[in-house]
Amino acid sequence: MAFELPPLPYAANALEPHMSANTFSFHHAKHHNAYVTNLNNLIKDTDLASKSLEEIIKAVAGDSAKAGVFNNAAQVWNHTFFWSSMKPGGGGKPSGDLLARIEKDLGGFDKFKEDFKNAAVTQFGSGWAWLVEEKGTLKITKTGNADTPMAHGQKALLTVDVWEHAYYLDYQNRRPDFVQAFLDHLANWDFAAANLKG
Ligand SMILES: [Fe+2]
Repeated sequence: MAFELPPLPYAANALEPHMSANTFSFHHAKHHNAYVTNLNNLIKDTDLASKSLEEIIKAVAGDSAKAGVFNNAAQVWNHTFFWSSMKPGGGGKPSGDLLARIEKDLGGFDKFKEDFKNAAVTQFGSGWAWLVEEKGTLKITKTGNADTPMAHGQKALLTVDVWEHAYYLDYQNRRPDFVQAFLDHLANWDFAAANLKG
């Protein structure tokens, strides 16, 4: 079974003005789709073809001979996870257990926002900033290129894509403004809370 590009969990214009339908027309329909196509071509007629996306990522992580498979599989997963990390009318503050864990492990929600934004802005070149759980503790991390928390024994809770293709059409070179808009208007805390429970 070949992998398919998953549909967006909302309409392509649902996150405007913070993320435009024009951005989605490239980021989802072109970039994400290309990772799916590349992955299918790379695993065709191999023993990876019968595995789930998560199984493929874990099987080839750290194997330099399979870097192409890893990069495309992880980018398929990362983008699907990113779309769900946002929602129309998102942003603001989480609640309940997730908020309590952010306060306990990350020094409070304001400190979380400052540190998450800093991770996203200081990721040199292409990559991702993440809220993850590792060994029972919440952490803020950043990864380069396609790298993804599950390759490091971490459970992803929320992410923002900081590849230029994520923000250039709407924010040009202003990555800090894009990350601020993600935190203020897009972050899907219900998704993060469900990931923490799951
Ligand atoms: Fe992306």
